[in-house]
Amino acid sequence: MFASRLARSSWRVSAATLQTTAAPVSAGNVTINKCQNYVPVVARSVCTSPVPQKPSKTFVEKAVYNGPKDVTESMAHLKTIEVAFGDKTRSLYPHVWLRENCQCHQCFNGDAIARVILVDELDLNIKPKEIQLVNGGLRVIWPDGHNSVYAGQWLHQRSFTDEARAKQRSEFALKKVLWGSDFKVHKMDFNLAMTDDRALLEWLIILEKYGIILVENSPQKTGPLLDFINRLGFARPTHYGTSYELQTEAIPNNLAYTGSKLGLHTDLPYVDYPPGTTWLHCIRQHEGKGGDNDLSDGVHAAHLLKERNRTLYDVLTRAPIYFQDAGFETYDFRKITKAPTIQLDEEGNISRLNISSQSRDSLMDLDAEGVLLFYKALKAFNDILYEISIRVKTKPGDMLVLDNFRVLHGRTPFDPSTASGKRLLHNAYIDWSELRSKRRVLQKKFGMELE
Ligand code: OGA
Ligand code: ZN
Ligand code: ZN
Repeated sequence: MFASRLARSSWRVSAATLQTTAAPVSAGNVTINKCQNYVPVVARSVCTSPVPQKPSKTFVEKAVYNGPKDVTESMAHLKTIEVAFGDKTRSLYPHVWLRENCQCHQCFNGDAIARVILVDELDLNIKPKEIQLVNGGLRVIWPDGHNSVYAGQWLHQRSFTDEARAKQRSEFALKKVLWGSDFKVHKMDFNLAMTDDRALLEWLIILEKYGIILVENSPQKTGPLLDFINRLGFARPTHYGTSYELQTEAIPNNLAYTGSKLGLHTDLPYVDYPPGTTWLHCIRQHEGKGGDNDLSDGVHAAHLLKERNRTLYDVLTRAPIYFQDAGFETYDFRKITKAPTIQLDEEGNISRLNISSQSRDSLMDLDAEGVLLFYKALKAFNDILYEISIRVKTKPGDMLVLDNFRVLHGRTPFDPSTASGKRLLHNAYIDWSELRSKRRVLQKKFGMELE
């Protein structure tokens, strides 16, 4: 009986209105041509074409579950179940994904928030024996009798449409707001950020969007920097330790320990996983000329380079560059890594900048022609970085916090011999995993969804 109906009709379970599906259904970038791909679904299915039938009583009752994220309709295809929600959005959910993501105790450990099912157990060709709408969600009965129930909101959050995935991406990492030479750095009071979680959330959001924020009025001593970082998560240790003091030294182990100009750079490009954010706490500033920080939005600069000279942009995304540093800090170290100047992720977005004249190695894994092209591209990029840069001179008690994957920092030169006291900074790092984690925890605490 099913077979003959299937040959000419689509099958769907409807919680609300019963609609026919004469036209192809578009879900994300997939257009489903009706009928030929459909598999038999449920005893309770309603044949919607060519002769619509009334839904069973059970499904008419389900119409009361009609919130925007409730499942109002579902239909099985060959490899997917198509679900429609109260807000009229629809998505396809692959059978194998549904089976793997069954939320029952056997398949998912809710205490550990971890999937129990292993890939070994997955049948790539699994198909539901039956699908039902229950309490605004979806129940799937599998051929072995296993029952999976998915809440409407849970499914809605995991929608596979292009639009939904764009939103998911922007919640995973907030969209960057690019800035240039007219940018005024956001400021926040240290005590407020330390004591008020809402203010801290606002602070985290600003840092993630702009890649820079200034904390003011912190105590002018070594310590508060790590108090703040510990409020967010664990500091990221390096060969400098969990944090380090930066002041002029007679025998400097780093150019930063002199009064020299520091060009725009990212910190520690010579380690495989550079720290996500750089924190510079000004305890004493150089009182004469110099000691200011140049700051530039490297992602913005990279976009400009891409617009102005695609070839040079491509050189910087491809040419592998060695970075190195060696010496003794908390132990003897000799760090070397290789990375392009503009690092892209698998979607072609800029994920990290790796720039430092101080530590870019003279050893280069390029032929002579490649070297010449690299310098041309780096120079063009450097010009744009300075063109859109801003300059800030921190005062004692300021903490400058920077996205080390994006915002480059430099320092104008100063003459330490003219200073009344030594310029002193306390520096530390913390990774983005920690900061985004804290942002999500606070968003959950305040029930805040981002736009
Ligand atoms: C550094 C650095 C900035 C400054 O040490 O890497 O960028 O203002 N210092 O001294
Ligand atoms: Zn299960
Ligand atoms: Zn630096």
